[in-house]
Amino acid sequence: MLVVGDANPDLVLRGDVRPRFGQVEQLLTGADLVLGGSGSITAAGCARLGLRTAMLAAVGDDVFGRVVRSELGERGVTLLEAESRGTPTGLSVILTPDGGEGRAILTLPGTIPLLRPADISDDLLGRTRHVHVSSLYLQPELADGLAGVFERAHKLGVTTSLDTNWDPSEQWSSIAEILAQTDVFLPNAAELLAITGAPAPEEAARSLGTTVVMKDGERGARAWWDGGECAAAGLAVEVVDTIGAGDSFNAGFLAARLGGRSIEESVRWAAVAGSLSTRAAGGTAAQATPADL
Ligand SMILES: Nc1ncnc2c1ncn2[C@@H]1O[C@H](COP(=O)(O)OP(=O)(O)OP(=O)(O)O)[C@@H](O)[C@H]1O
Ligand SMILES: [Mg+2]
Repeated sequence: MLVVGDANPDLVLRGDVRPRFGQVEQLLTGADLVLGGSGSITAAGCARLGLRTAMLAAVGDDVFGRVVRSELGERGVTLLEAESRGTPTGLSVILTPDGGEGRAILTLPGTIPLLRPADISDDLLGRTRHVHVSSLYLQPELADGLAGVFERAHKLGVTTSLDTNWDPSEQWSSIAEILAQTDVFLPNAAELLAITGAPAPEEAARSLGTTVVMKDGERGARAWWDGGECAAAGLAVEVVDTIGAGDSFNAGFLAARLGGRSIEESVRWAAVAGSLSTRAAGGTAAQATPADL
């Protein structure tokens, strides 16, 4: 399968992370530089679950770019690089205070918005069974032509999925044309409501006319498709952090579905894969194996 989207490192800092300005030195209890980006965490999860996985991303010619290349390589993902045009690789700094009352994320988009529809050639699509696109609202140029890309994919017999993730601008510009060419839409509950303007998830999902697999944090997942619906619980695990849980969820769903399992079973795999990923810091360290699922 082919994942198209964001690839960057996450710098995860723990401890006394609430900054006080004026040359105050504060001591941390932990710092990890790990593979981040919704696209690359999804790709790593798919490879770990046994799918032959490539990732198309723009990555810069710098130290953060080298982290992305080596981390994806170690996880068995083939990185296909789009032009980075001298732009630095993106980075997210994730501040995780002791006591765990939510986190703050500082993101440099860097190369993330550089992908263009033309980067996804028919030649590339002709070499895969499925294309998944991540973090659409961070990539406006890609979003503009994605409906056409997915239409080309379908003509070549390639299936499509989309996880928009949150829109930092909160404009939620219409993605109706893209969703009309999307086989599986994988939002979380807040994103589903924001995108549709509907008051409740079921109404929202039914208004879209495609298969919707919705992540719902510790409540697990719900899904609606033509002729059915289901819900699945995650697992009760000792949560270290939830970074990338949604992306590992995507990987669980896609691995099951492309492996020929039913939607219901794929949603169960997804919810369990999401939960298991929360057992360690960062997005990929505790991703599920086929044996786990
Ligand atoms: N606290 C938790 N305990 C157990 N499982 C969890 C927890 N949080 C998330 N999960 C699992 O991970 C899945 C995806 O998580 P979540 O709903 O947070 O996705 P998300 O909002 O898209 O996250 P992100 O985009 O930040 O990775 C859930 O459906 C659930 O199965
Ligand atoms: Mg998400």
